[in-house]
Amino acid sequence: MLILGIDTSCDDTAASVVEDGTKILSNMVSNQHEIHERYGGIVPELASRKHIEMILPVVDEAMKKAKAEFRDISAIAVCQGPGLIGSLLVGVCFAKPLCFVHNIPMIAVNHLEGHICSIFLEESKPDFPFIGLVVSGGHTNIYRVDDFSSYTELARTRDDAAGEAFDKVAKLMGLGYPGGPIIDRISIDGYPDAISFPRVNLQGSLDFSFSGLKTAVLNYLKKNPDSRKEDVAASFQSAVIDVLVDRTIQAAKKEGVKKVCLSGGVSANSALRVAIRQKSSEEDIEVYLPSLSLCTDNAAMIASAGYYRFKRGEIADFSLNPKAYLPLGQPTAD
Ligand code: KG4
Ligand code: ZN
Repeated sequence: MLILGIDTSCDDTAASVVEDGTKILSNMVSNQHEIHERYGGIVPELASRKHIEMILPVVDEAMKKAKAEFRDISAIAVCQGPGLIGSLLVGVCFAKPLCFVHNIPMIAVNHLEGHICSIFLEESKPDFPFIGLVVSGGHTNIYRVDDFSSYTELARTRDDAAGEAFDKVAKLMGLGYPGGPIIDRISIDGYPDAISFPRVNLQGSLDFSFSGLKTAVLNYLKKNPDSRKEDVAASFQSAVIDVLVDRTIQAAKKEGVKKVCLSGGVSANSALRVAIRQKSSEEDIEVYLPSLSLCTDNAAMIASAGYYRFKRGEIADFSLNPKAYLPLGQPTAD
């Protein structure tokens, strides 16, 4: 069964054809880094305009690369949210007439569910239940995942997402956009213990907070303008990684679950991948990491999540609206 996935939630225009929720036949992503770089962050209006320009060629290319015709496609899965409303609108408004004209069912997919499902596109797939850390530019959430349709939120960020902190710190260090991959790269030549940045621990909660860390980096740079940028980057990165790893492992222990799975753009971070593997092995927990191209935004993950929704008969109708705020699963009572 072939699913065409479409994601325009943020600044990547993405389309992909996936077979049976697991086998990628094509995975096209057109990013807009050059457009947003000069602003040090995403400009929503520019993102929407670029999506309008790119959506048709990107979908076309995904279909051609997969050697698929629309009559072969069983359903079109489109990201409904969360994300930038103008960007989401482009994907949803493109999917609707495509489904109508070709008489194909439309599936609405939550972007966060997409990130979690990216692991099902890999050879090694976790059994349920597992703990899923979704860590990206817009989100830092921990879920208990009991099934494809069963997500319980265990933690969230109270302010900035981890990827947002990477991007903001890179901006204030004048490093460029997106900041995560740049900080990852230059940290290799820095000392993670050079500067002691705060690791926020919210009493009685697994929630995250990264805005104080960003301010601490800003204050440090003001007081120490000649500091080695590699050391600042590595020390900042180490503070982010410590809390991400600690909360994920704590969540696994609290839930009595022996598997953790990372997803989202920040899960491409090389030092985070090393740290979570090391800590998990010490705690006898299995760790699952998507390959780098499936960590950042893509539409294969949307097609995969869409496949499982389609199998459950969850077809969207043409009244579907995109949603900037679209939580996944239920938060726990405590
Ligand atoms: O998942 P994603 O592509 O988009 C969202 O859903 O937000 O994540 C993008 C975020 C950006 O903040 C980017 O700086 C961060 O992921 N990122 C990284 C790395 N690669 C991307 N952060 C740290 N290290 C990386 N290697
Ligand atoms: Zn994302």
